Amino acid sequence: MYTEKVMDHFQNPRNVGEIENASGTGTVGNAKCGDIMRIYLDIDENQVIRDVKFKTFGCGAAVATSSMATEMVKGKTVQEAMEVTNKAVMEALDGLPPVKVHCSLLAEEAIHAALWDYAEKNGIVIEGLEKPKSDISEHDEDEEY
Ligand code: FES
Repeated sequence: MYTEKVMDHFQNPRNVGEIENASGTGTVGNAKCGDIMRIYLDIDENQVIRDVKFKTFGCGAAVATSSMATEMVKGKTVQEAMEVTNKAVMEALDGLPPVKVHCSLLAEEAIHAALWDYAEKNGIVIEGLEKPKSDISEHDEDEEY
């Protein structure tokens, strides 16, 4: 049911941990399944994401998507990181089973929440970034996937 890439990122997740004095942190949960994701970003003076770590109480799909998402935002500018959507992450993992698609939103939303935190702390605006939700379960009704 899971692709090889999903299994690989689930079994050997990249960038697990936390960053002390992170430039931005974001925590989101999904009240329906009870899973929680936290992302830490270390961003340099050129707005480039130097390092990123995540911690989760989440299912395997949430672990795999967060692992892949952190790999994809590392080295990017905060603006480029906005292009790392849950869809882009799922594509990079060669897909997720439909019932697991909502899990990939945890990673996207947690990154957005961390970017929001960074933007607020530094008084900057990241184009296209909206105020994050702390609970993504209301997304479940979305039709877009
Ligand atoms: Fe909750 Fe996957 S079941 S994030």
